[in-house]
Amino acid sequence: MSELISDVRRSDHNGVCQLRSECGVVIDLHIDRYLGQASRAERRFLRSVAGPVVDIGCGPGRAAAYLREQGTVALGLDASARLAELARSNGALCINRNVFDPIPFEGRWHSVLLLDGNIGIGGDPFKMLGRLSEIVESGGRAYVEVDAVGPTQQLTVREHRRGSMGAPFAWAVVSMAGIDDLITNADWRCHAVHTIRDRPTGERWPGTNRSDRLVVELERTS
Ligand SMILES: C[S@@+](CC[C@H](N)C(=O)[O-])C[C@H]1O[C@@H](n2cnc3c(N)ncnc32)[C@H](O)[C@@H]1O
Repeated sequence: MSELISDVRRSDHNGVCQLRSECGVVIDLHIDRYLGQASRAERRFLRSVAGPVVDIGCGPGRAAAYLREQGTVALGLDASARLAELARSNGALCINRNVFDPIPFEGRWHSVLLLDGNIGIGGDPFKMLGRLSEIVESGGRAYVEVDAVGPTQQLTVREHRRGSMGAPFAWAVVSMAGIDDLITNADWRCHAVHTIRDRPTGERWPGTNRSDRLVVELERTS
């Protein structure tokens, strides 16, 4: 992922970048949010997150940079070397790492962030949840942004932008309803659901009146 998105510059994009599956599932990527600073609503949410924090798939490092600015110990990690570098230049502590490879201080982090659909990284949310159990300490938290509605799906997608198309990779989408399935028989329970009210005016989840981003706070129970 992100060969195309890491090329996007605020000056040359029209804000449209999508992941598309072979069978027509379209996931919009929010380039302005991706490249911008944490919004007011995001900052409010992030202030409720206790450190030390790992921001998985941090991209340009919006969340990790803000947490660091607040004095919270926060490490971003991203599989793209270019994005990890961009995150560092944006003020985040960041390493260029695949989340499924070893990371520093595994099992000692209090919180992990999977924002902007990053529970879909690798295409298998159950495997990702298992990986989070290795990273987070007992009693720690995983903050997982989910779709308000819709199916939970495992997909093969490509990035599309301005007529360019990236290589296929595995991705998944998880909806609010899918979280229950995900944590059944796992060492996680749902502790709270946070809303981040920063979607553009008028933008709605298809088929609903909801415009808020939803972040499920999971607590590691074992
Ligand atoms: C949808 S973007 C989200 C970026 C950021 N969290 C945000 O909220 O804007 C997904 C990010 O995950 C990164 N990524 C994809 N696969 C990864 C992996 N296996 N390990 C670490 N990062 C990964 C991508 O490079 C990309 O920056």
